[in-house]
Amino acid sequence: MESCWEGIYQQGNQLNRYPYDCVVSLVFGLLKSKPSLRVLELGSGAGNHLVFLAENGVDASGIELSSSAVAYSQAQLIKRNLSAEVVHGSFDNLPCSEDTFDLVIDRSALNCAPRDIICHALHEVNRVLKPGGEVFSQIYSQLHPAFLDAHTRHAGYACGFKHYFTDIDGLFFADKNDIADLFSVFEELDFNHTVSYSKDNIVLNANWTVRVKKAMS
Ligand SMILES: C[S@@+](CC[C@H](N)C(=O)[O-])C[C@H]1O[C@@H](n2cnc3c(N)ncnc32)[C@H](O)[C@@H]1O
Repeated sequence: MESCWEGIYQQGNQLNRYPYDCVVSLVFGLLKSKPSLRVLELGSGAGNHLVFLAENGVDASGIELSSSAVAYSQAQLIKRNLSAEVVHGSFDNLPCSEDTFDLVIDRSALNCAPRDIICHALHEVNRVLKPGGEVFSQIYSQLHPAFLDAHTRHAGYACGFKHYFTDIDGLFFADKNDIADLFSVFEELDFNHTVSYSKDNIVLNANWTVRVKKAMS
């Protein structure tokens, strides 16, 4: 079955133009102590982060399931005379050698897959990271209103959204134990849970931000 993301990008939707602020501050922070960075983005979408990384001298790669998004992001790079590798594939099977990257970025891509695929992908991420390399991940939390809005929920994977994400087939929403388990392969677990509320105290958004490292040896 084809991913819903191919249809979303073919219709010209969700073509993010700019990098997310969390990625900008993370990368600028790391560049201060390590001017030469090799970075992989999981689910690199429209290439908004790849463009930002390449513009700032980072050796950037992305892996993306949608062929339309791969073609779009490659065109964005060429238009700006920038270079980054964009691979068409799935993040649970990384076509990269071990110990390759200083940083792996997941800006809400892993949560497009069910829990077992995320678990597999994170073992792959651990393999391709250099010792001491970092993972940055943003994953929806079960406090997100879309989780309760979904028609079905199984092991954190929700399908059939009625009001939010109506064009998306399914998304994974993590609780605290999921985050601890999924990232237990790494060291220096640091995770934040952010919930934003309306003025009437209604939850608008909720996600986990995770920063972890691969063990040094
Ligand atoms: C919410 S979008 C985020 C795009 C980009 N990371 C950003 O922050 O702008 C999720 C992306 O993950 C991609 N994706 C979903 N499942 C994937 C998989 N198994 N392997 C690679 N990419 C995947 C989708 O095609 C989509 O481009």
